[in-house]
Amino acid sequence: MAGSGKTVVVGVTGGIAAYKTCELVRALVKGGHRVKVVMTEAATRFVSPLTFRTLSAEPVTVSMWADAPEATVHHVSLAEEADVMVIAPCTANVLAKLACGRADDMLTTTALATEAPLVIAPAMNVHMWRKDATRRNVSAMRGRGVAIVEPERGELACGDVGEGRLASVECILASVESELARVRDLVGRRILVTAGGTHEPIDPVRYIGNRSSGKTGFAIAEEAARRGARVFLVTGPTHLPDPFGCEVVRVTTALQMRAAVLARADAADAIVMSAAVADFRPAIAASDKIKKSQAPENIRLEPNPDILAELGQRRGTAVLVGFAAETSSVEANARAKLDAKGCDLIVANDVSDPSIGFGTDENSVLFVSREGTERSGVVSKRHIARLIVDRLSGFMSG
Ligand SMILES: Cc1cc2nc3c(=O)[nH]c(=O)nc-3n(C[C@H](O)[C@H](O)[C@H](O)COP(=O)(O)O)c2cc1C
Repeated sequence: MAGSGKTVVVGVTGGIAAYKTCELVRALVKGGHRVKVVMTEAATRFVSPLTFRTLSAEPVTVSMWADAPEATVHHVSLAEEADVMVIAPCTANVLAKLACGRADDMLTTTALATEAPLVIAPAMNVHMWRKDATRRNVSAMRGRGVAIVEPERGELACGDVGEGRLASVECILASVESELARVRDLVGRRILVTAGGTHEPIDPVRYIGNRSSGKTGFAIAEEAARRGARVFLVTGPTHLPDPFGCEVVRVTTALQMRAAVLARADAADAIVMSAAVADFRPAIAASDKIKKSQAPENIRLEPNPDILAELGQRRGTAVLVGFAAETSSVEANARAKLDAKGCDLIVANDVSDPSIGFGTDENSVLFVSREGTERSGVVSKRHIARLIVDRLSGFMSG
């Protein structure tokens, strides 16, 4: 790891995994970073501040009321010094405090006061992790642009088996390094992203839809915004909250999506069409709910406009990325789509594998462009989003 000389504030909370933070601190120091550890009172029950002081060769802070070094306002100075703050392990308790903006000890005060990127690696019992309250706290933090290093599945200290085990030191380190190296390569760029599936009405309560969750498109929009772009996200119906830093337009049908996209396309430097837009819609949508006793024998469909093809024809200099969900001959079909739709890149996935793709958190895709084909391997949708935005950035600067 290259020594960057950056200041990393490491927050340690009262979880059994606190001992693993010793390894994290060692690795950060070894990587050339200055490491300042701040602990909750509960954390000191698990690992002594002396251990962290020795590993970091820096004073360790626990109390807000102790004498501050160098006559500074310590609770703010630590926050200001940080290039990145990482909380590992993060208890359910501290996660909840951060989600509602509480600052009643040195660690949470520093986290609230800092302008530096925040990385949180939660660790807790599986039932605590799955509780609705915890899920909401995680989403709230993620929605504010905080990097969450998800806990792993496995045997937990309490004997339960499930997710909740602190992510590996390597994973936490990678997230810290990625925040430190966060590229702001898209400042001044305008990027239009579409996400989710569309709902095509049969009557006022029924529709034809598809299984797209919108996760990939939302992750792309958020990643582009984090890298400095002004992002417009046009999304079909989804339960996902608005991603951090994006202007979001929510639509229902393919026709509405077309109108929202075309209204913003001319101003965009890049367009990423990750939405699963329905190819067909019922030719007639009944204005009243169809009675059970009047079930139609068939529903006549008519084609929806091909938004991607339209963009391919009129995009000017904008970079155009399309998606292909295929069940066979994935690469060949994606390459044909690349040419037919006039795209710079097709992100293709094999939706015949139920363990990845629609509705799941992981995917494996092919990046098909005129330069060749690359495989992502099975990785999280967030990681795929990063890989797509990397390529987007390359096309825009190339
Ligand atoms: C042995 C032991 C292990 C614990 N492990 C965890 C844990 O892994 N995650 C967690 O959220 N809480 C854990 N707790 C509970 C926290 O220590 C407790 O909620 C405490 O108030 C957290 O304080 P803090 O969030 O200020 O550090 C554990 C408690 C004990 C006694």
